[in-house]
Amino acid sequence: MGNISGKIRYVGVNDLEKVIFEGMWPLPFGVSYNSYLVIDEKIALIDTAEAGFAAEYLENIRKEIGDRKIDYLVVNHMEPDHSSLMALIRENYPDIRIIGNAKTVPMIKGYYGLADNIQVVKEGDKICLGSSTLAFYMAPMVHWPETMVTYFEEEKTLFSGDAFGTFGGVADGITDSSARLLGSTDSAADSFSAFKDEMRRYYSNIVGKYGQTVQAAMKKLSGLEIARICSTHGPVWEKNIPEVMAYYDKLSRYEGEKGVCIVYASMYGNTAKAAKALAAELEKRGVEYAIHNLCTENVSYAYRDAFKYDTIAVGAPTYNNDIFPPAYNFMYGLSARLMKNRRFAAFGSYTWAGASVKLLNEMASKLGFELISDGISFPQAYSPEKCDMAALADRI
Ligand code: FEO
Repeated sequence: MGNISGKIRYVGVNDLEKVIFEGMWPLPFGVSYNSYLVIDEKIALIDTAEAGFAAEYLENIRKEIGDRKIDYLVVNHMEPDHSSLMALIRENYPDIRIIGNAKTVPMIKGYYGLADNIQVVKEGDKICLGSSTLAFYMAPMVHWPETMVTYFEEEKTLFSGDAFGTFGGVADGITDSSARLLGSTDSAADSFSAFKDEMRRYYSNIVGKYGQTVQAAMKKLSGLEIARICSTHGPVWEKNIPEVMAYYDKLSRYEGEKGVCIVYASMYGNTAKAAKALAAELEKRGVEYAIHNLCTENVSYAYRDAFKYDTIAVGAPTYNNDIFPPAYNFMYGLSARLMKNRRFAAFGSYTWAGASVKLLNEMASKLGFELISDGISFPQAYSPEKCDMAALADRI
């Protein structure tokens, strides 16, 4: 997948071995760790890759530049999925100068013990590789404090770090003229459609809390002419830049589209029946929805769809006079992501004292969600008479 342009080469890897990213998020289609070379009189390497890919990564680099030396390693982001091979690169290219910002330097030392031949750059600083200029812009908290982006001026190419990235390995070429989601059987119209769900899952799971700083970064980047986005995960965006930018803007403004994300957790199936009854009522009304069982599914997918739709309905029984923990964890995760701009409904069964619906409503209210009903708290077994999901669906 090497050539992106005459001067930009892809040297990243697809990871199909890792099952859970960051110890939390499933990877049904794998993930790519993207790294790039900019080749001119001097050569710059942009970010590295995950620790397990040393041999493949070095081989990818050597295929592109043979025995030439690399002059610079640009560190846009220090999270170990991109920085783990930094020490290996220094071993193989001992004269390489590491480029980072003031917040990067202690992380490089702390993670990899490297402290020499590091050049600290500030907002707008540039390095020249010959006829190629790389300019650096800070993008703090997208999604770590040291995150920055690198802009290759002559090719209007943005090396964006995790921004605009997606889960999912990349097949059939790295650019969005052909990139396909590895292992997917979907015949998506284009690369953006193929990766859109995995982009939203990545955004909601990893970056979701930082909508405000993503917005600030996007405002800053709006002053640059961008013809190509080289993220650290997923396809290189060229054709689909307007769609990708617009979608990132929407996600980071917490703007949901019409529809309902139903999320439930159930001990003996009664709250599950209520969730399915709500889904059936929405179906009858032609309202788009997604439904997630937190007891059997990783919460990753529930966050993905909570970021998609403008309404969230949460079902949880009462447990220890509190919210059944899987649903509490989901709500905690929304709170941790500073989720906003949502309509909300709660439902759930109890046996001798109902607490979950009231407490779910309180958590939702703290997030500023609009409660579309008082919620449906029902005793013991589910029945349509106890749970008027038709009335709830009417309010949606
Ligand atoms: Fe892909 Fe924040 O690392």
